[in-house]
Amino acid sequence: MSATMYNLVPPLVPVERLEPMQMPVIDFSKLHQTSKSRSLVIREIATACRDIGCFQVINHGIRKSVMKGALQAASEFFESSPKSKAKFISPDITKPVRYDCSNDGLSKSRSLLKHYAHPLDEWIHFWPQEPPSYREKMGKYAVEIRRVALDILDAIFQSLGLHQAYIREKLEQGMQFLAVNSYPQSTKPGVTVGLAPHSDYGFITLILPSCPGLEVMEHHTKSWKTVLQPSDAIHVHVGDHLEVLSNGIFRTLVHRAVLHSEKNRVSVASIHGFPMDEKVKSAGELVDEEHPKLYRESSFKDFLDFLLSRRNNNESYIESLRISTI
Ligand code: OGA
Ligand code: NI
Repeated sequence: MSATMYNLVPPLVPVERLEPMQMPVIDFSKLHQTSKSRSLVIREIATACRDIGCFQVINHGIRKSVMKGALQAASEFFESSPKSKAKFISPDITKPVRYDCSNDGLSKSRSLLKHYAHPLDEWIHFWPQEPPSYREKMGKYAVEIRRVALDILDAIFQSLGLHQAYIREKLEQGMQFLAVNSYPQSTKPGVTVGLAPHSDYGFITLILPSCPGLEVMEHHTKSWKTVLQPSDAIHVHVGDHLEVLSNGIFRTLVHRAVLHSEKNRVSVASIHGFPMDEKVKSAGELVDEEHPKLYRESSFKDFLDFLLSRRNNNESYIESLRISTI
């Protein structure tokens, strides 16, 4: 697929005949209009996080040209020469920039460029220079999507009645990393999974895709639903550390990506958490006799250690954090 063929307006057709996930499309501008509209939006976000683990936002203020630019930069990176991509291949998962096209158990058929994004000044110098506009375009998107993510997290923490100042401070210094994904067009009939079922590490993940392909597992039925995403919307879902911090009020969302039958697909997932060494624990306000602490505390560094030690075991990270209450 050439970068100029990039289609930012995904047709609203599911990749396979799964039912679409019914989720709220939240008008983000209302978060900053009146205190009444803010309360309503906060309630909508909290209900979505609690009941289904995901929602979409529109009117988030990220310009179309910035979204398009990020997707263009992503596809041009994956189309760049094998030599320029090879510079970023490393077995070391702690590297701040890493390219992986090895298609292991998780990445069934996906290439991944993962890089840290906040603070941008610290990391952007490590990012790809091929295509030449990569840093500028992806950098602009990284800054804007982070602003949206922090506003969403503020709303979520407010809905939980948590101390904003402490959390805001940790988030200000917190981690953001981008998972820039590329999936080939499906060549076999039927569904082919590009990225196997998993949940994401951080508090929330915000996804910008070039076309449909994301599927989420509905909490109560455990069935797969496809995600239909208007071209200007950002998909948001709950990650492992929000489940921990909310002491299980919100649950991490299991999701996967399937290959599109007609075209290659790229997506940019932005993942947000506390600083690398900061432990995330169930918030004290949400733990009492009736609601015992359900999770062990852990940091991003612990997560990386978990990944390194897991290798032959299928246990997920969130399972490893759950405290047995029996
Ligand atoms: C991820 C992810 C989904 C997608 O990068 O963690 O789940 O649609 N991506 O590419
Ligand atoms: Ni994911």
